[in-house]
Amino acid sequence: MSKLLRLLLLAFATCLALALKGVDAHNETVFDIERVQRFLSDQRGAKQSEAIGKHTNNWAVLVSTSRFWFNYRHLANALSMYRTVKRLGIPDSQIILMLADDVACNPRNAFPGTVYNNADRALDLYSNNIEVDYRGYEVTVDTFLRVLTDKVDRTMTPRSKRLLTDENSNIFIYLTGHGGNEFLKFQDAEEVSAFDIADAFAQMWETKRYHEIFFMIDTCQANTMYSKFYSPNILAVGSSELDESSYSHHADSDVGVAVIDRFTYYNLEFLEKVDKGSELTMKDLFDSYDPDKIHSNAGVRTDLYDRNMSEVHITDFFGNVQAVEIDEDDGNDDEE
Ligand SMILES: *[C@@H]1O[C@H](CO)[C@@H](O)[C@H](O)[C@H]1NC(C)=O
Ligand SMILES: *[C@@H]1O[C@H](CO)[C@@H](O)[C@H](O)[C@H]1NC(C)=O
Repeated sequence: MSKLLRLLLLAFATCLALALKGVDAHNETVFDIERVQRFLSDQRGAKQSEAIGKHTNNWAVLVSTSRFWFNYRHLANALSMYRTVKRLGIPDSQIILMLADDVACNPRNAFPGTVYNNADRALDLYSNNIEVDYRGYEVTVDTFLRVLTDKVDRTMTPRSKRLLTDENSNIFIYLTGHGGNEFLKFQDAEEVSAFDIADAFAQMWETKRYHEIFFMIDTCQANTMYSKFYSPNILAVGSSELDESSYSHHADSDVGVAVIDRFTYYNLEFLEKVDKGSELTMKDLFDSYDPDKIHSNAGVRTDLYDRNMSEVHITDFFGNVQAVEIDEDDGNDDEE
């Protein structure tokens, strides 16, 4: 119902109610203006929940905030997530990849041009065409928050570097780097606070830039980073509690540094079981978090999120909603 129509109807109903009241002054319950208003506002409510049901596209924002060779694992964490969301169908045009350093080209890299997340070095995360949207010193707190809220210079910023989401977008946001109580360091130079991100999400909600957000962070005291969120439809997980460190999983002695963090490693291990048609749910993922393996207490925040975790598919965030229905056969290599 258009706003104008609603106003007209309300005006009409008000006049009618007053007229009737005038006619039948003995019976006050004949036409209750409050009931009319309640009815109209219920209609609006119904409209809103209809809109909430719509989810048509998935996006990912993946950020490694650390510089320096010894933080190799943070880059590997983010690139591993990048590989996973792409495998599950989110196209590069809907992924914002921010890497504060490029260890692939670090002179200390014994395997130049590569990044591995496992000492078996079976999978080079750098080999497949990766599209880095922001790299090196471009990766700042300001850039990150502007990308989220789309407060970017539109004449200077190509579409590929913008988060062009709308009210039907589910967004997976992954952050990794060094952090502490309610902050995450960027480049060893500055920090984003839990409040900054909470406020950015609130702006995003107000400007209809998301349908749902799945926030994941791997850093020390990570769970404090989602503690300030206050906007609807946000699901959040972190690698460790207040006053608790997060740990790396293992080192590659030839690369010479740790190549992946524990929380990310076990998330990826779970996500490897997910394919495009998977029925696995968020509950399955959260149930898989094992402090004995992760060596810290991963946290899950669901109070801002209405849906039942047993009914939220992993592919609601990881994957391309529309690709499920698209016939992927391009007809070029049909030999039958
Ligand atoms: C007042 O109106 C209501 C609803 O039309 C009716 O059920 C009720 O009997 C009326 N009461 C009197 C006192 O007329
Ligand atoms: C969530 O969904 C599961 C499976 O559909 C059901 O068994 C469970 O009772 C639901 N929980 C709540 C709180 O609704």
